[in-house]
Amino acid sequence: MCGIVGYIGEKSAKDILIDGLRRLEYRGYDSAGIIVLDDKPNLVKTEGKVDTLDEKIKDISMPGNIGIAHTRWATHGMPTDENAHPHFDCNKKIFIVHNGIIENYKHLKESLIKNGHIFSSETDTEVLAHLIEENYEGNLESAVENALSKVIGTYGIAAISADEPDKIVAAKFGSPLIIGLGDNESIIASDASAILRHTKQVVYPEEGEIVVVQKDGFITKGEISPKDRIAILEWELEQAEKSGFPHFMLKEIFEGPKVIKDSIRGRLIVDEGISKLGGLEDVADELSRIERLIIVGCGTAYYAGLVGEYLLEEYGGIPTEVEYASEFRYRKPLLDKETTALIAISQSGETADTLSAVKEVKMKGVLTLGIVNVVGSTIARETDAGVYNHAGPEIGVASTKALVSQLAILSLITLMFGRQRELSLVMGQRIAKEIYELPAKIEEILSQNDKIKEIAEKYKDYKDFLYLGRKYNYPIALEGALKLKEISYIHAEGYPAGEMKHGPIALIDENFPTFGICLKDSVYDKVYSNLCEIKARCGKIIVVASEGDSEIKNIADDVIYIPKTLEMLSPILTVVPLQLFAYHIAVMLGRNVDKPRNLAKSVTVE
Ligand code: M6R
Repeated sequence: MCGIVGYIGEKSAKDILIDGLRRLEYRGYDSAGIIVLDDKPNLVKTEGKVDTLDEKIKDISMPGNIGIAHTRWATHGMPTDENAHPHFDCNKKIFIVHNGIIENYKHLKESLIKNGHIFSSETDTEVLAHLIEENYEGNLESAVENALSKVIGTYGIAAISADEPDKIVAAKFGSPLIIGLGDNESIIASDASAILRHTKQVVYPEEGEIVVVQKDGFITKGEISPKDRIAILEWELEQAEKSGFPHFMLKEIFEGPKVIKDSIRGRLIVDEGISKLGGLEDVADELSRIERLIIVGCGTAYYAGLVGEYLLEEYGGIPTEVEYASEFRYRKPLLDKETTALIAISQSGETADTLSAVKEVKMKGVLTLGIVNVVGSTIARETDAGVYNHAGPEIGVASTKALVSQLAILSLITLMFGRQRELSLVMGQRIAKEIYELPAKIEEILSQNDKIKEIAEKYKDYKDFLYLGRKYNYPIALEGALKLKEISYIHAEGYPAGEMKHGPIALIDENFPTFGICLKDSVYDKVYSNLCEIKARCGKIIVVASEGDSEIKNIADDVIYIPKTLEMLSPILTVVPLQLFAYHIAVMLGRNVDKPRNLAKSVTVE
């Protein structure tokens, strides 16, 4: 949510900042702005995308080697030129870009106005610029520190002063921020994709930390570039590029087989039917005492958790509940800290609601675990232990490969718990063996991409869709509906197939197609009957079915066959055709697939 980038070095800050903004644009894309310092501050802000900003500045000379830039996802104030970041003080000497929300901004703004400050935007962020000005006595770092001590809320910020053009002051609390350390240059960004091109050496500021970034290093807590703070990024630059695909989303769906391999590499021992999760070893004792798991997440990550509930109860032998993180934190849950653990699932590791749920239960002494993709992200660091997805950067706003890897990791965690409890060696071996088969099976599904595109063409003009699934594939029905609505803007509802007759069936007619997941598994007959009820009401039906199931053709208008696997692992396969279907419809409707309207990649505000 909002992309921040800052540069200080010897190259043209303008070029590096614009390149960085393009790579971060998936985080927010309703307005953008840049400030580069040279003889004078060069500030340009605009409503619209980074392309619009680039067009506006292409003929402006900005030779400076220090600057900050921002791409916005509006919270306070409409997307306008004035509300775009960077924001500045009354003298236009101090500039700031911000990701997060200043909750007490109204109160601060009132007192700053009383002190004579003139505001030029409706944003909460501008308050920070004036607060820093109010506290400025020739040292930007101290001014930022004093200003932030008055603030309630979350922030990742980068600030510069025309009077101190040799430093960027960065700070973080509840919003992501990374500092890249290159050869006589430093880059600040809200995620690694803007840094990878320049360096792999990074520093992750801690919550509440203020860092002075210079071209030859950084100063934090009075120390100059402490070596033990420097980490190495694992991601490769190509992973953050489209590599010939028209969209990141399609590329990321096609990465499914590799993502499974990377998520399970070194973590599965087939002969013993067990998984080995290094990230959980430090808490092995605590885990052996756990009698109840709570999974929290948002959006797609929440749906992964719902699949996890089925997995962990049926095969892991452990009572599991799943909650929207945004609800969980306000529910005042009753938790026994000795026997309960919380698993937070998050691709970005920065989702504000999920992070708050983690903090909430940590305060109560409950063990917290993370399934997180972004290494070094706030949730990864805040949880007591966890498992990284190793899925590589996910740039498309619609989550696809992250879900595939989250499901793979939940299967590994299920194996871990299961084999410590009742799960037999034979069943453990079967599951482990089958997990290894998944990449090849996803390849088989991907090879049907053209066929799925043809089906999408047939259905692209419908205005409403129902998605039905049952048991393990009920959450996948929810996910299929979410994918369609978020990237194509078509109304879609996901439902457990058995619930359909308790209400949604009233919607069904020839204009309201249903996408069913009906595999040859323990609920085949039930889902088949539910689909017959749709057919009897003239509803069109598309089905994801098990290969070899010819009976399904009796009721389905269109069928996508997928290879057989264990029922518990089937969501990892069924989700792929649903992702492709949504993708193709969105492309055919001319939608901005990778950056759908109103959304942002990581939701770092409540
Ligand atoms: O980064 P996270 O996994 O925590 O993000 C959670 C949701 O915001 C995310 O899954 C969102 O629902 C996506 N737009 C789904 O495609």
